[in-house]
Amino acid sequence: MAKDINKSEFTEETKLKLDIFRECFREWYPVFLHNPYIKRLFIYDMFAGSGKDSIGNLGSPLILLQEAIGENQQHCEYLRKNKTPVVLFGFNEKDEKKKSELESHVEKEIAACKRRCQHEDCVFEKSFSYKHDDFQELIKNPILQKALNNRQYGKFVLLDQYGFKQITDDVFLRLVNAPKTDFIFFIASSFIKRFKELPAVTAYFKKENISFDETKPKECHRVITNYFRALLPSDKEYYLHSFTIQKGKNYYGLIFGSNHSLGMEKFLRVCWRQDEFAGESNCNINNDFQAGELFHVPGVSNKKQVVSNKIMKRILSQQITSNIEGLKYALQCGCEPKIYVEVIDKLRKYNQVTIDGVFNRTAANIHNAKPYNIVVL
Ligand SMILES: C[S@@+](CC[C@H](N)C(=O)[O-])C[C@H]1O[C@@H](n2cnc3c(N)ncnc32)[C@H](O)[C@@H]1O
Repeated sequence: MAKDINKSEFTEETKLKLDIFRECFREWYPVFLHNPYIKRLFIYDMFAGSGKDSIGNLGSPLILLQEAIGENQQHCEYLRKNKTPVVLFGFNEKDEKKKSELESHVEKEIAACKRRCQHEDCVFEKSFSYKHDDFQELIKNPILQKALNNRQYGKFVLLDQYGFKQITDDVFLRLVNAPKTDFIFFIASSFIKRFKELPAVTAYFKKENISFDETKPKECHRVITNYFRALLPSDKEYYLHSFTIQKGKNYYGLIFGSNHSLGMEKFLRVCWRQDEFAGESNCNINNDFQAGELFHVPGVSNKKQVVSNKIMKRILSQQITSNIEGLKYALQCGCEPKIYVEVIDKLRKYNQVTIDGVFNRTAANIHNAKPYNIVVL
């Protein structure tokens, strides 16, 4: 049985994971909060734990709550004025005792928040619902399915499982196919690699779709991400990105999914803040020269060079024929869209392409970018 994560102090790697959860949600929440077409916002933590570690560090559900309140209660103030969307937290923790501890931690957090607040009532008074279901049952719950499939509801789904058995192909596809739903899950990729021949793994993953390169242990979480990528419906525009977390000899990781380019822009911003070389790991996944090493060049990395070259080749071979395609391709490669703009600037400078339409350097909120076409000379 897995060791209870809440019974000791969180490790550095757990803290990194929680930081990424926090930053990811911090980017996500205001976008949905301020969207006038969204009637309800569901914030699900499906493996919520008890809320704290042994020395009081906050676990994911309390982090989500803190971020939903916002600095100086700014998000609550917005909700108070605007009344919509209705914000609801769905916290699930299979262990009933841990679920009760979580309820009491949330109550205390809200009570402390009320003491700092100038208002009598709390915008989150009726916002919490708790369950102690087995996730495999919960995900099939018709009420949850209805919320997931409602286009007027924004959903953030956090799945901090132990190990690797909970996010099955079916669960993954349910989340991918749910509209206005972004999700992030944790997975112990090394364990899948180590036990890949055993029924404990093959019952969950089709082993013929996973191929580990024994010479590249750092890449095992990428391999797992590609397993999930291959499950995506081929006709669907969808964005998936992973972040590898090394702990000693083991590799764990996060996988984030969104069906909107803005969701992925925001997640990539978080990842590139954590890893300036590849936006992808805490372990220098592409063996880049580090600051202080002889060949280190600030701002240059193996990943950026590879992706720049790919974009350039695709433009010159007319596989990318517009800025929108170029910006989205950068996202699909796990790079921020500005890398496309750097490439097109170079190609224009050396007269290799010209622009049909009005040129612009938009590299953020790319769903609103004014489109132009690229003509190869
Ligand atoms: C990695 S911990 C989550 C920690 C939490 N995110 C935090 O920051 O404190 C996983 C949690 O899932 C719970 N759990 C295990 N199996 C579960 C299942 N099948 N359904 C729901 N919860 C489960 C465990 O009791 C444990 O508290």
